[in-house]
Amino acid sequence: MATSYHETYAGWKADPEAFWAQAAEEIDWVDPASRVFAPDSGLYGRWFEGASCNTCWNCVDRHVEAGHGDRTALIYDSPVTDTKSTYSFADMQRRVGALAAVMRAHGVGPGDRVIIYMPMVPQAVFAMLACARLGAVHSVVFGGFAARELATRIDDAAPKLIISASCGIEVQRIVPYKPLLDEAIEIAAAKPETCLILQRDAHRCELIPGRDVDFDEAVDAALDAGGTTECVPVAATDPLYILYTSGTTGQPKGVVRDNGGHMVALKWSMRNLYGVEPGEVFWAASDVGWVVGHSYICYAPLLHGCATVLYEGKPVGTPDAGAFWRVIDEHRVSVLFTAPTAFRAIRKEDPDGALIKNYDLSGFRALFLAGERSDPATLQWAEAQLGCPVIDHWWQTETGWAITANPVGLGLLPTRHGSPGVAMPGYNIQVVDDDGKPVAAETLGNIVVKLPLPPSGTPTLWNAPERFQNAYLDEFPGYYATSDAGFVDKDGYIFIMSRTDDIINVAGHRLSTGAMEEVIASHADVAECAVVGTADALKGQIPLGFFVPNDGVDRDPVDLEKELVALVREKIGPVAAFKTAVRVARLPKTRSGKVLRGTMQKIADGAEWKMPAAIDDPDILSEIGDALAARGFGGK
Ligand code: COA
Ligand code: AMP
Repeated sequence: MATSYHETYAGWKADPEAFWAQAAEEIDWVDPASRVFAPDSGLYGRWFEGASCNTCWNCVDRHVEAGHGDRTALIYDSPVTDTKSTYSFADMQRRVGALAAVMRAHGVGPGDRVIIYMPMVPQAVFAMLACARLGAVHSVVFGGFAARELATRIDDAAPKLIISASCGIEVQRIVPYKPLLDEAIEIAAAKPETCLILQRDAHRCELIPGRDVDFDEAVDAALDAGGTTECVPVAATDPLYILYTSGTTGQPKGVVRDNGGHMVALKWSMRNLYGVEPGEVFWAASDVGWVVGHSYICYAPLLHGCATVLYEGKPVGTPDAGAFWRVIDEHRVSVLFTAPTAFRAIRKEDPDGALIKNYDLSGFRALFLAGERSDPATLQWAEAQLGCPVIDHWWQTETGWAITANPVGLGLLPTRHGSPGVAMPGYNIQVVDDDGKPVAAETLGNIVVKLPLPPSGTPTLWNAPERFQNAYLDEFPGYYATSDAGFVDKDGYIFIMSRTDDIINVAGHRLSTGAMEEVIASHADVAECAVVGTADALKGQIPLGFFVPNDGVDRDPVDLEKELVALVREKIGPVAAFKTAVRVARLPKTRSGKVLRGTMQKIADGAEWKMPAAIDDPDILSEIGDALAARGFGGK
């Protein structure tokens, strides 16, 4: 098929408002927008000002109204509990309506925040949609975060209600959620009035009288009583959710997503980018705690009338590296979206793809990868095994959908391995030097997006508009700073090479090395520390810590390292995958006292590095090289 990408992109560029007005026709609005784009509103303008709508209506009720109530909306496949179930759009309407009735009975109304701290169970998606139905604002917290991280989010969002479960289930262990929830509420200053707790058979928990309510009992009672709730109209510019993501400090950034623009962009992406039609099965193998889970497990497939797969398992180990092929075959998945790390894990266990041959993948059309750089070797392996397009696309929590991609729906462009494709309509991408001057094609620089961000782009940070302004808008006036560095080739393909801040990507999870440093520095025996991301064959990057003990501390460094590893796990969570802290006598610094993390990272990776001109004491880098070599890293 010839691609209409260039024509479509040029059409958007010529008249962005007409482009998005046309895309908005795919959404049911209660009231239409008075202005497609209001340049003077918000921090850089707002989309669909004056419109009112309801996201849950567009995801669920409208399909029932259109006579598709019997179509499958959600497929739950959980190898860790040996459960499979499906829910039609009519089932979803009933369950979400009943849950919304329960939430309303506990005082949740439009604008109230609700924290959802849940494993990959259907009730997590019902909870997100029930919030949307009521006009409440959800904030889903990933289950791999520790109590302190949850507490930070509780304090920032000040939720009226928390929805959680008794446990999550990892491959080798059950993770009791309730102790983490109780501890977080204990730490937090903003106490929720009610917690709705889903009891899971694998590990039930004690409920606290007066605060905790049994999720199933309450929803079943509401269902028996015929309890339901109408979809409450909200302004298109009202928040649908807050999703906390790593910033450069321990305080995460509360990325805000609106209702109207989000629906318009996501709905557009399903047909034009992913090439999927209503009624087909779309699978995002991510977690509802991440942006990919929000956009492509929950909202976009449902908006488009697709069935979405909610998979509670891993690419390997549940039970083997054929799990993804089984799910694709069994549920007739057309398109899969996951992180490259999942494919690295599968390839490691089944390098010849022997397990693929056991399954019928004839209905499978395309694999999309995002969340971290796709290494060409993994991408080519996936292409060879699957015999279909494998598409890298570039994303941020802040945008909620792809910034660059190779759009299957518009017709594929030739693939360039190493590039996550070309700019999607809505994004005018430029590469600039540190002074904001455009650089020539194929020259490395800061990647920026000309304002405004397209629909779905975060309009601000929750409770922190000034932080939004400082973090994204001030550095390059008129542009959104992505904090990614890379280049554009002469045909417009973007290449993302690294972050310009201290964010690292561990197994597709976005983490802040600054936040880990704050935790390590809090240990009484540590004088100073640094954390860098080092290359890892499976997870892409893993954190690597360095610490200098306080003068006079005469302890076995192995014991101290164990304590630091445990501290990061306790304070941030297992998802940080922090396993190594190397004791060093001194940290390398510039003469102005800046720790040379970039050089340490290169030494750890065994990459080429140059002696920084501003280094205070060059000998320290040899000490770092020796310490790393002793631990099996890159050497000098
Ligand atoms: N609740 C509690 N703990 C969790 C968790 C959750 N929801 N998710 C992960 N963890 C824990 C893991 O059990 C692991 O703990 P451990 O240190 O005791 O082993 C730790 O957090 C790190 O998890 P992860 O980085 O996911 O590594 P893994 O070893 O469990 O699995 C992969 C490795 C590659 C199979 C896995 O990372 C994967 O499937 N990734 C898919 C990528 C993805 O979903 N990315 C999201 C963006 S698209
Ligand atoms: P998150 O907000 O968790 O989606 O992480 C966003 C960051 O992940 C981006 O700023 C990039 O650094 C990185 N990232 C996401 N997708 C890609 C990709 N396809 N290629 C390279 N880096 C990516």
